[in-house]
Amino acid sequence: MRQLKTDIFAVGAIDWDAKLFDRLIPLPDGTSYNSYLIRGTEKTALLDTVDPMKTDVLLGNIVGAGVDKLDYIVAHHAEQDHSGSLPDVLLLYPDAKVVTNPKCKKMLMDLLGIEDEKFLTVEDGQEISLGDKTLKFIYTPWVHWPETMSTYVPEEKILFSCDFFGAHLATSSLFVDDEATVSESAKRYYAEIMMPFRRQINANLAKLDNLDVDMIAPSHGPVYDRPEFIIDAYKDWASDSVKNEVVVAYVSMHGSTGKMVSHFVEALIESGIKVRQFELATVDIGKLAMALVDAATIVIGSPTVLVGPHPCAAYAAFLTNALRPKTRFVSIIGSYGWGGKMVEQLTAMMPNIKAEILEPVLAKGEPKQADYAALDRLADEILAKHKEAGIVN
Ligand code: FEO
Repeated sequence: MRQLKTDIFAVGAIDWDAKLFDRLIPLPDGTSYNSYLIRGTEKTALLDTVDPMKTDVLLGNIVGAGVDKLDYIVAHHAEQDHSGSLPDVLLLYPDAKVVTNPKCKKMLMDLLGIEDEKFLTVEDGQEISLGDKTLKFIYTPWVHWPETMSTYVPEEKILFSCDFFGAHLATSSLFVDDEATVSESAKRYYAEIMMPFRRQINANLAKLDNLDVDMIAPSHGPVYDRPEFIIDAYKDWASDSVKNEVVVAYVSMHGSTGKMVSHFVEALIESGIKVRQFELATVDIGKLAMALVDAATIVIGSPTVLVGPHPCAAYAAFLTNALRPKTRFVSIIGSYGWGGKMVEQLTAMMPNIKAEILEPVLAKGEPKQADYAALDRLADEILAKHKEAGIVN
């Protein structure tokens, strides 16, 4: 148990060994499930719980803090990595009320079977007093579920933001001590789960403009005692501006698409465009997602397999569509043996990407001189498009 401020403690769990979230998202640096205990002069509140795998750690920390009566358990978000221990905490403190919004209450009843009488629902902006400290609830929907909310403690100027501003990072440091490392983890987290909700995130960021915040305590990763660092980063990531960058995500079976990618990437670099190249059979999807946050252009490279794209390329297209990056231009390059519908199938998989499709380049078998020339033209067109859009001078 560690102290953020007088009578405010971190009582959650560090998960150093976590490797995969949702059986999908790589966790190269582990994660943490943050839970906070606030002791007021009259009431005591717990803010969020932890993943059920770490219930023992949470209960040990609360009991170790000498909490004999818990008045409120604030549930900011129904996802089980923060709500999963709620039933066990309620068993230990049966008189505690679960404080949440009506939407989250419904989800907690559906997901965890928590009974109706256990809840105290709050509206956006409503306050609960703990005595010398106030919990002010601020609805922050779609970071990243529809029911998500935050809690602001005005006396201490702390915002408890749950997943919003979180970072999958296991660290022994309670506060951010290395902004570069945390920025990388927080950007990965934003890219993987927040990016599809960019519009709502901007609306939630605007809500924070009216708050005097000295500290942001998220539910994953360290606490921000210099919150402007992560707020500014979020404003940049969620903005409409893109960078002079091309993501080239490709897979090659027998080398033809690989040769095309090498030539194309070299042409882009010579044009002064930043390139991030990913080999899709071995890619860390978190790194690919992070690259999609800023890139003006995405190019998928694929051979033709069973008349369509390689499954790895299809996975990348599906993921890109789901993550809804602010990409302005998309193209496809690759090879085929005798025909197929690779381009049609890949573009049909990305209806959410409101980007201009630039003329794909397909080579029949081994790329020839004409194919390399077409790749040069595509690189030139991308540069021209970036200039036209004011992304590069
Ligand atoms: Fe960290 Fe959406 O749960």
